[in-house]
Amino acid sequence: MTTQITSLEEYKEQYKSSIENPEAFWDKEAKTFTWFEPYKEVCKWDFEGPDVKWFLGGKTNITYNCLDRHIETRGDQTAILWEANESRKNGKNGSNGNEERSLRYTYRQLLDEVCKASNMLKSLGIQKGDRVVFYMPMVPELAIGVLACARIGAVHSVVFAGFSAQALADRVNDAQAKMIICSDYNKRGAKNIAVKQVVDDAMDLGCNSVSNVIVHKNTGGEINWSDDCDKWWHDHVDDQSTECQPEMMDSEDMLFILYTSGSTGKPKGVVHTVGGYMVYTCYSFKNVFQYKEGDVYWCTADIGWITGHSYIVYGPLLAGATTMMFEGVPTYPDAGRFWEICEKHKVNQFYTAPTAIRALMAKGDHWPEKYDLSSIKVLGSVGEPINEEAWHWYDKHIGKGNAPIVDTWWQTETGGIMITPLPGITDTKPTYAAYPMPGIQAVLVDKDGNELNENNVEGLLCIKHPWPSILRTTYGDHERCKQVYFSSFPGMYFTGDGARRDSDGRIRVIGRVDDVINVSGHRMGTAEVENAINEHDNVIESAVVGYPHEIKGQGIYAYVISQGKEKDDVFRKEILAVVTKEIGPIAKPDKIQFVDDLPKTRSGKIMRRILRKIASGDVDSLGDVSTLLNPDAVEKLMSNK
Ligand code: WT7
Repeated sequence: MTTQITSLEEYKEQYKSSIENPEAFWDKEAKTFTWFEPYKEVCKWDFEGPDVKWFLGGKTNITYNCLDRHIETRGDQTAILWEANESRKNGKNGSNGNEERSLRYTYRQLLDEVCKASNMLKSLGIQKGDRVVFYMPMVPELAIGVLACARIGAVHSVVFAGFSAQALADRVNDAQAKMIICSDYNKRGAKNIAVKQVVDDAMDLGCNSVSNVIVHKNTGGEINWSDDCDKWWHDHVDDQSTECQPEMMDSEDMLFILYTSGSTGKPKGVVHTVGGYMVYTCYSFKNVFQYKEGDVYWCTADIGWITGHSYIVYGPLLAGATTMMFEGVPTYPDAGRFWEICEKHKVNQFYTAPTAIRALMAKGDHWPEKYDLSSIKVLGSVGEPINEEAWHWYDKHIGKGNAPIVDTWWQTETGGIMITPLPGITDTKPTYAAYPMPGIQAVLVDKDGNELNENNVEGLLCIKHPWPSILRTTYGDHERCKQVYFSSFPGMYFTGDGARRDSDGRIRVIGRVDDVINVSGHRMGTAEVENAINEHDNVIESAVVGYPHEIKGQGIYAYVISQGKEKDDVFRKEILAVVTKEIGPIAKPDKIQFVDDLPKTRSGKIMRRILRKIASGDVDSLGDVSTLLNPDAVEKLMSNK
């Protein structure tokens, strides 16, 4: 089994040896997994390509390591513990009120279900290397389907079920997916969301690579049906055999594509491969959460994001853990829901996002006080900087001062947690992600790429040596991968984040330095939102920036130049509707300001620095505006705010 660090001395030793001899370090970890054929070389890399390979020549299957190899030792242990959305109980939104509230899949049952789904995929012509897009709520079938792809070597690409039909179609087309797997409806809080309808709309927009849409019956609500391509999950899965040999996968075969936003308008498909991702997610899971035999671990993320991939599905299952999956939302039926579940299932490790902490904090201390949270040993935070107030509330009201908080910094591209305290092992300091994991050479550089080696310094966060779960490419566009991550500072992976190091060497990640905003822990490209706004016929130009938002961390502020329309709330609503249609509700601007002009440099570039300052009300220090083509635009923006 993967090494588990148990003391500060061990952390220091492991860190040192992982830097001095990364290959020997990761070789030792990789050997704890089952390889059908051993790898011949641990790592080969060149950041210029970039061309990074781990465990070269090794053959394995990640689902064999998640499931089969645990059957003998923990076949009857719960692998996935599923907790339903509350509406299933009370007969709301189409429920008969008698539905299961929680379901358990033992490792044996999960393996059976994954094999059945694998056989379904095969029977419908899905082969190794084919892409399958998932557009589903947080039901067990999503995890089962994803694992089924991995078992037969198909590449999964999960699209968060809050994205619009257009956004879904864009991703399906970029991946040239052969199949979409969705549900009929999604129960989300009090809402019933017509998921299949969104898929129908995406198909109408043109998804020519797709030959089948598999529909999981989640609520049984009415849906449109196309006899040509629609198929029920149960019709094609239920009678399948529970035997399916895992495909022999090369360590560097593609495991999944996950789309994420960047500085340009088009989302990029981050590609992860089998071997390195397997080793790193398992290793980081066991160490960051200090998971112990018998613990119940709960990550509240959605599988539509990397957190769900690495720390609901793969990391925990590889480590033989019991991982909980929650269908609902934090505030439904009330703001005690998370804590009720922690009490009910005696959760030991709880991993959530600052935005959820802030939202629940705002509802009052009496909610967590109603429940017994004494089982919680470790608290985790991910997705955005956690502010001091939220950190202390989490510590005091949820951890009762006894559960260390791991503020985990990482990215879709890094595959796993990179900078974090280790609970009970290293110290913690509010708002600091603190220390790099073994194997992670985090450095700060100035804008010319000079390494800043002293403490008490601020700079751009880069990583020097590859780690096993680093992205390999951006799907279909390797050049973009090179440009975005490996060209700013030769020989280093550039994260796009700014960070500071305190006098004791702890790292605090401050936020993005590119045109990406972090809304409720979700990455939004400003260019993407602008493109969406510009789809409105009366919009001439727009500029989108982030501003501090009490609950979401950052809100979206849009400046809009328009013509031929009253600049009122009706128009604002229309703009929101366009954004919802183009991307999804998560990208809706929180504020829209109609303007006549935008501050531009002489070369015609919008000066976002100024727009950000105005949006956040920080107008005393606008900085140098002398290079502006139209300085008077700034005055007008401020007076019309
Ligand atoms: C960006 C990555 C990785 C899972 C969820 C987000 C920000 C993430 C932290 C943290 C400060 C953080 C960074 C990063 N971020 N975790 N603990 N402290 N910032 O994944 O969508 O790929 O976004 O989220 O800005 O670059 P993602």
